Amino acid sequence: MSKILVTGGAGYIGSHTVVELVNAGYTPIIVDNFSNSEERVLNGIAQILGQQVVCHKVDCTDAKVLQEVFTKEGDIAGVIHFAAFKAVGESVAEPLKYYHNNVAGLVTLLQVMEANKVTRLVFSSSCTVYGIPEKLPVTEETPTQKANSPYGNTKKIDEEILRDVATSGSALRTIALRYFNPIGAHESALIGELPLGVPNNLVPFITQTAAGLRDSLTVYGTDYDTPDGSCIRDYVHVVDLAKAHVAAIKRLEKEEPAAFEVFNVGTGQGSSVLEVVKAFEKATSKPFPYKTGPRRAGDVPAIYADVTKATEELGFKTSLSLEESLASSWAWQQALGK
Ligand code: NAD
Ligand code: WQD
Repeated sequence: MSKILVTGGAGYIGSHTVVELVNAGYTPIIVDNFSNSEERVLNGIAQILGQQVVCHKVDCTDAKVLQEVFTKEGDIAGVIHFAAFKAVGESVAEPLKYYHNNVAGLVTLLQVMEANKVTRLVFSSSCTVYGIPEKLPVTEETPTQKANSPYGNTKKIDEEILRDVATSGSALRTIALRYFNPIGAHESALIGELPLGVPNNLVPFITQTAAGLRDSLTVYGTDYDTPDGSCIRDYVHVVDLAKAHVAAIKRLEKEEPAAFEVFNVGTGQGSSVLEVVKAFEKATSKPFPYKTGPRRAGDVPAIYADVTKATEELGFKTSLSLEESLASSWAWQQALGK
């Protein structure tokens, strides 16, 4: 069974991907420093799978300890690189922290992979690289734009680094997945998103509000040029997203894969903030407290994916609706018991 190193494998998307890797017959090896996750995630994964997954508590920016993991594990067939910081606001306040972890971390990983002749990489990119798109839905051909935060810029720079390495004649073969807005949790409610502090993201804020931890949601802006005035996003279930990583690894295993490819991973469906609130009310069968407020600085008015490429070439499909995704987020929030 092929070993796949999963950096950030204890995190939100990483933990769900670890489960899907095992379901697909791979042996994931987690590398995580738990800077934005908790070790109990490993218990959740083990309970779902009925087996423990190997985890190395290691910082990916440290080449020496990363090399020790590669040496200890031996034959690594590929790497999925989730490990990064992702808080947009914090990245504005502390850009160097983000450039170090997200950019220097990638470079370090690539050097260690090269030294160990590991050539397959799946990279976590983001729809943030499209900035404010002129035309919707966005395809992989939609031009990328200057990111409006250091976090977004790290993803754009990382993609450029990967493209440069690909054209250098290196043996590295990379698939960058540009995620839209991942939501939801595993159907067991044993793993899910663990936001630290007050969540910035919409769905954790909604579930914490429904749980009574927050008073009410503020809908940031209802005067956008969208049908109901609130912002539009493409909310994709994290388990569907996790499966896209398995598909990407399989594509890299084929004979002569492309040196560098990008794929949008979303549902292809745009939903407004107010539609999400309504869908949540339907999923939970109870009214949800919200008020409308001013726009949030830096928000993209509307973005959703054209997923034709991922559908045709990765066999990607969404199996879970917005309502089902929100119901799973809610089940996870309740399982957290706080
Ligand atoms: P997360 O914070 O839940 O997971 C990231 C994991 O990486 C955490 O467990 C953290 O402890 C670990 N980590 C961070 N820096 C590390 C380092 N230097 N060494 C080892 N471990 C480290 O985040 P997530 O939502 O699962 O996101 C995973 C990836 O997907 C990130 O690269 C993120 O930028 C990207 N992404 C996320 C979203 C989203 O909305 N969640 C959208 C687009 C892209
Ligand atoms: C969604 C919508 C808010 C909270 C972020 C990152 C981006 C990418 C995806 C990683 C927006 C609205 C939110 C609230 C609200 N991540 N909202 N009230 O803005 O698409 O992007 O996640 O790469 O880089 O910036 O996601 O969940 O923060 O917001 O009205 O309390 O919900 O204005 O329209 P976003 P989000």
